[in-house]
Amino acid sequence: MSIWRWILFGATTVFVSVMLYCYFSFGSCLFFARFLYEPGQTGSIVPTSRIAATELIQPMLATQAPRHILEVGAGTGPVTEVIVEHLQPGDILDVVEVDDELCDLLKQKFGYHEQLGIHCMPVEQWQPDYQYDATISTIPLMNLTAEQIAPILKQLETLTKPGGSVSYLEYIGGAELKKLLANKDESEDVQKKLALFDAFQNKHDTNTVSVMANVPPTYVHHVGIKKSR
Ligand SMILES: C[S@@+](CC[C@H](N)C(=O)[O-])C[C@H]1O[C@@H](n2cnc3c(N)ncnc32)[C@H](O)[C@@H]1O
Repeated sequence: MSIWRWILFGATTVFVSVMLYCYFSFGSCLFFARFLYEPGQTGSIVPTSRIAATELIQPMLATQAPRHILEVGAGTGPVTEVIVEHLQPGDILDVVEVDDELCDLLKQKFGYHEQLGIHCMPVEQWQPDYQYDATISTIPLMNLTAEQIAPILKQLETLTKPGGSVSYLEYIGGAELKKLLANKDESEDVQKKLALFDAFQNKHDTNTVSVMANVPPTYVHHVGIKKSR
């Protein structure tokens, strides 16, 4: 077979595989497409695993209904699905997602649910008139600059009740990989980011769990917001 036939065969195989993937899992396919378009903001090529999602909601499960729950960066909704399964009468779940296409998908999937509000905006702009018992974020913080992270962490803290919790993901090895690939300026920014995470976690009561069954494996940080800030 000539080289051109091999190239045609390879391209056809890739095309058919992508079509099958999109046909059987539209959400994952859209998520991957959004990653190609906005890699920094989307932050991952596959949605969070059910095991990681279940870990993220542990502090929520430890509180009593009726609760206010906030999910930030819902993407195609793998964590939303797990939260919804555990909603009890009187609970309110607010979902905030910055990407308009993913937000439209979330409205199609969860718009029917009376206890759920879907808000298409950056979390920095979300201003409810109440605070949350449990805040769950899968924003890819490590992909952002220190300047972008500082207001997001501040906002997550402000939105959460004293005594409530902020749970968020940090991919294992993400910081080390960034340091390895960074030039001098980027390396300084990685140090600033790590200092911001340390300050946030040390200011409150933080418990960290490793979840290997996720792509990539991830830490789940549970930050218990202190009653006196
Ligand atoms: C790593 S993906 C996680 C998606 C999904 N929750 C999951 O677990 O698979 C991060 C999501 O956060 C969203 N995001 C990033 N920055 C955001 C911000 N400032 N406010 C709200 N959502 C944001 C992205 O659009 C993306 O959907």
